[in-house]
Amino acid sequence: MRSICVMRLLSAERVKLFRLYREEETAELIKKVAVQSRSCSTPIDLSEMLISLMRDLICRAAFGRKYGENEGESGRKLKKLLEELGEMLGVFSVGDFIPWLGWLDQVSGLNAKIERVFRDFDHFFNVVIDDRKARQDDSSTSLSEDRMDLLDILLQIRKDGTNGICMAKEHIKAILLDMFAGATDTTCTVIEWAMTQILRHPEIMKKLQEEIRGIAGSKLNIDEDDLEKMRLHPPVPLLLPRKPTKDVEVGGYNIAAGTRLIPFGARRRGCPGATFAPAAVELVLANLLHNFNWSLPGGARIEDLDASKSFGMSVHKKYSLVVLASTQS
Ligand code: HEM
Repeated sequence: MRSICVMRLLSAERVKLFRLYREEETAELIKKVAVQSRSCSTPIDLSEMLISLMRDLICRAAFGRKYGENEGESGRKLKKLLEELGEMLGVFSVGDFIPWLGWLDQVSGLNAKIERVFRDFDHFFNVVIDDRKARQDDSSTSLSEDRMDLLDILLQIRKDGTNGICMAKEHIKAILLDMFAGATDTTCTVIEWAMTQILRHPEIMKKLQEEIRGIAGSKLNIDEDDLEKMRLHPPVPLLLPRKPTKDVEVGGYNIAAGTRLIPFGARRRGCPGATFAPAAVELVLANLLHNFNWSLPGGARIEDLDASKSFGMSVHKKYSLVVLASTQS
């Protein structure tokens, strides 16, 4: 299953095909921030906007369309489910850490909530998959590879038994859920922390903006061709593996000698979204910095910017990133 994710669903070629989605959704984000910042400098909950952007992006990659609030009952349903999934991933489950106290999760209602959310997801995916399958069966033409979304590819693998893979509907649902769970929180968290650090270092914000604006000029939206000209691209795709020779403390974390630090994990446990994520992170960050100057609301000082972390699958900021955006004058 992992190789299907890496080779077929999130390969470098496929990630390139999602360029239009990334650019359109980022442009949408910039529009939303502009509207809010125009209305007498209302503080913006950037965390919330980023989550919504990533959900839309994954929806379009997976299903070729968004399921937003404006998209009727199914849209509202998926939005609610994704919010609940986000909460589940951030919940502390006693039983995961101390198995013999697992009954506490039963008593607290956590297990029942998890079961209900996953049942609802199952139902949602059943409807979407059956509907897509029916449309494919009715259609006389088959889609070209470059017009397929993730669900099309999974259904094709199921039909053709590609590479001897016997893909059941349950597998398709599990992969889709894994995508939503793996993509949203992680990618938003990276952008959120990057913006937090940029806010804490105004001189770096200025330097970045000078470079970005120097390349993009008066364009409103930076596209991926502009990104190519920026120094955002590191000379190696991932950090080269590093191993401390002795125990060290980095940013308050104790790192044991010999530990490898690699953001996307590695080998069999490595992240299949390691190409998808940076493409989104870079475009969003460049556009946010190009279009706006960022500061804290209510005259708050940089020292007041809270950088506490919350518990969860990703090391989230404990509090949403609420900021002011002003347009370049
Ligand atoms: C900056 C953003 C991201 C980071 C830092 C990240 C990091 C990781 C890491 C460390 C793992 C391995 C977890 C483990 O040990 O089991 C993982 C798994 C996974 N990631 Fe990501 N990820 C990111 C974005 C994405 C995106 C955008 C997608 C999909 C589009 C994605 C899909 C997945 C999936 C499906 C798995 C599970 C793989 C498996 O079960 O073998 N991730 N991610």
